[in-house]
Parts: sequence; C-alpha cells; structure tokens
Amino acid sequence: MSKKYVCEPFRIKMVEPLPILSREERLTNIKIAKYNLFNLHSTDVTIDLLTDSGTNAMSDAQWAGVMIADESYAGAKSYYHLTQNAKDIFGYEFIQPVHQGRAAEKVLLPILLGPKKYAIANTFFDTTRAHVELTGARCIDCIVPEALEISTFAPFKGNMDLEKLEETILTLKPENIGLITMTITNNSCGGQPVSMENMRQTSEIAHRYHIPLMIDAARYAENAYFVQQREPEWKSASIRTIVKTMFSYADVFTMSAKKDAIVNMGGLIGIKNDANLYQKLMVNTISYEGYITYGGMSGRDLEALAIGLKEGLQQEFLEYRIGQVEYLASRLDEANIPYQKPAGGHGVFIDAKALLPHIPANQFPAQALAIELYIEAGIRSCDVGSLLLGNDPDTKEQLVAPFEFTRLAIPRRVYTQSHLDVIVDALIEIKNRRDSIRGYKIVKEAPVLRHFTIELEPIA
Ligand code: F0G
Repeated sequence: MSKKYVCEPFRIKMVEPLPILSREERLTNIKIAKYNLFNLHSTDVTIDLLTDSGTNAMSDAQWAGVMIADESYAGAKSYYHLTQNAKDIFGYEFIQPVHQGRAAEKVLLPILLGPKKYAIANTFFDTTRAHVELTGARCIDCIVPEALEISTFAPFKGNMDLEKLEETILTLKPENIGLITMTITNNSCGGQPVSMENMRQTSEIAHRYHIPLMIDAARYAENAYFVQQREPEWKSASIRTIVKTMFSYADVFTMSAKKDAIVNMGGLIGIKNDANLYQKLMVNTISYEGYITYGGMSGRDLEALAIGLKEGLQQEFLEYRIGQVEYLASRLDEANIPYQKPAGGHGVFIDAKALLPHIPANQFPAQALAIELYIEAGIRSCDVGSLLLGNDPDTKEQLVAPFEFTRLAIPRRVYTQSHLDVIVDALIEIKNRRDSIRGYKIVKEAPVLRHFTIELEPIA
C-alpha cells in the first residue's frame, strides 16, 4: 500500500497551464535538443522535475513583500529585514546576500582556498566542486559507505565518513586542508540528510586541526526535519532549535536560497564571528556581485527571501513537503522501481544502473532514463551520475560516478498528488520496455560543468 498523501497546507489562487504534447512532438524536441534536457524549451515540458532550485511557488505574503520592497542602492530596508531574519535563524554575526549559491561559492572560496590546497566534503555539489577547482585546489569526498548501498535504508546516508576524514587530514597534512564542507542535505548522493551527531563530530575533528568548517546549506530546512524525525534526541525539538544548533558547529555557510528559502532567486553567505574574514568577503562581494546591501539581488528578491526563509522552516510545510516525496517513493516501491532508499528531501533518485543494467557508466544510463521519461510523458528530470561528474581535471579521463541516478526533483508548492501519479505511471511503462533502451555517446562537451551544454547521440 502506498503511503498516505499529506494534504497541502495551502490552497491555490493562481494557476499556470501545462503544455501537453504528442509523443511524436516529444521525439522531435529531444532530438533537436541534442539529447540534453537543459536544451528543451520549458513550453515543451509537461512536468518539470529538472530541479527544485528557483522553481518554487511563492506565497501571497512573499508577493505582498515584493510590492513593498525597497530598491535603494545602499541601505535598503529589505536588506535589513533579510539580514535580521537570517541572523535570528542561524545565530551568525555576518550575513551577506548574493544572487545565488554559486555566487556565494565564487565570492567566499578564493579567500579560503588556492593552489596546492585541498577541500574535503561529505560530497561536493557540482558547482561547489567547480569553484574549489577554479581556485586551484582539489576536492575529496568522504561519504559514509552506507550511502553506496542504494537499496538499503539508513537514516543518515548523507553523513561524513569520520574515519576517512581524519585519515585524509593526516595523510595530506592539516596545513594543506583549506576547508571542510558539509553539504546538507547531501544532494549528489540522493538528497540524504546529515545527523546532528555527525555534524558535531565533524566540527570536533575540523577544529582539532584548525580547519574551518563550512555548511553548504541549500536544503538545511529539509535536513533539520529529518533530524527531528530520525534522531531520537531531537524528536521534541523545534525546527528552529535544530537549525540553530546545527549551524553553531560550523564557522561559515554558503546557501543557495533558491531551494529551502522558497524563492526564485537568491543566495546567502554567513560568517559566524570572524570580522577579518567578513572584511575580505565584502571586497569580493562588491567586485563580483554588487554593493553589500544588495549583493546581486533586487530589493524585491531580498524581501521575498526574508519572508521565504521563515516559511521554509514551518513544521506543517515540511511535513507536507517531505510527505509528498515519501508518497512518490512508496508508489515506486509498489512498482518495484529501484531508487536511493530512503527518499531524499527534495526528490527521489532513481537507480538507473539497476533499472538499465545493460547500459555501462560511459554510456550514461541515468541520462538515458531521463530522456525516456521525457519521451514517455513529457517529464523533465536530470542525470546525477557519470555524465554530471565529468572528466578528471588533471587526466581529462571520464570519471565513473559511484551512482547513476536519474533525479526527480520536486519543486516546492507546485505539483499535486495526481502529477506524482503520472510520473510513476510513466516509469512503469519505461520499466516494461527497458531492454530496448540504448545508451548515449558524447558529441560535444565543455571543460567545466559540461552537463549544461553537452551534446549527445544515441548509440546504434
Ligand atoms: N549547493 C548545493 C547543494 C546545490 O544543490 C546547489 C544547486 C548549489 C550549491 C548551487 O546553487 O544553483 O543557486 O547556484 N543545486 C541545483 C540543483 C542547481 O538542481 O540541485 P545555485
């Protein structure tokens, strides 16, 4: 039996029609798009699960905030509204708005890293990895082994492997490690959460070796909800308390606010108390993003974010949000469709390696499945596997990812139960004809973040 769907804690007062296309039209579109789903026009997509980033529906309160926002170049009241709310939530002294998550990375990471340095994470998200490498430093992932056992439930598959972390620090020497990063939730391994205890211990190790700890906070509210549900000590704590405690273990954070802060554009950098670091950060912000009181955002973006930060932490919202993803996962269970178990916070990550075992990693099974989902029902998803991982920055060889996931990312407050049912029905159809699905080869690729612009061709 599938899980009971958690009723939306809102009603809908504005609607946007969905494009409905024929199978022939979809076959033509995906060919023209060179089998890269980023190249599709959104008017050719029926259900868009490409990302949960910036695709959220804002509330009436946020839209009202847009109208009363302050567009002053310097000292806008919307800036003070936003930074005050963020300081209250995270307990950090310095908050800098930027236009999105990778802007936060671009502004902050060159201050902390450089050539011959290393950065270690539970798992780096691709833009974070790119910005670490752009400073000349190198990335090392230390994910817990249970994350690799895709079909087995574990409560905190996003955790840092603490033994491997310490071993890596000692092997490479603490003075060469510029940064330790905790991505919450851990997007690349399936939207999996990090426990409070793991964060505490990671912080303990980082600080023992005098290495700063950064939180990549894109989905920090979903992570807090999982801590509340799965870590017994935190069962009766409020989401706000969990968030504040979690952030107290780190020194800095970068945040793509386009996820858990339920806006369409925005980002934040937080510095707990290092005034010296904040001075350097302001210099980079002004060069790359804009003056510090707007940081690459319009006043209305700042205002919507100030409000969205609070809405994203509401208990009843998170219950609905995670409940929706769990409902989708429970229907996949009924259909025996493999995915990273348990479901992540922001979506379900289908195990394309298990579903399409005849397609090897270098022919991109997760991309092949994403293409089939579009052809089958106009659903846009994305590859989180070897196609996304790309080539080794030194040898230029194709890397083999530990997972071949097709990610179904669920935008916040956008789709309903019946949309989720359409997705499952399409996957069942694909599963029934899976033996006929082919892999893909690369025709054209860029040196960094290639998946956005890659061109592919089906293998005959
Ligand atoms: N960190 C994480 C964990 C992310 O998931 C993302 C974006 C970023 C940083 C960068 O933020 O897009 O605002 O510049 N993830 C999106 C996704 C794109 O689809 O998962 P950004």
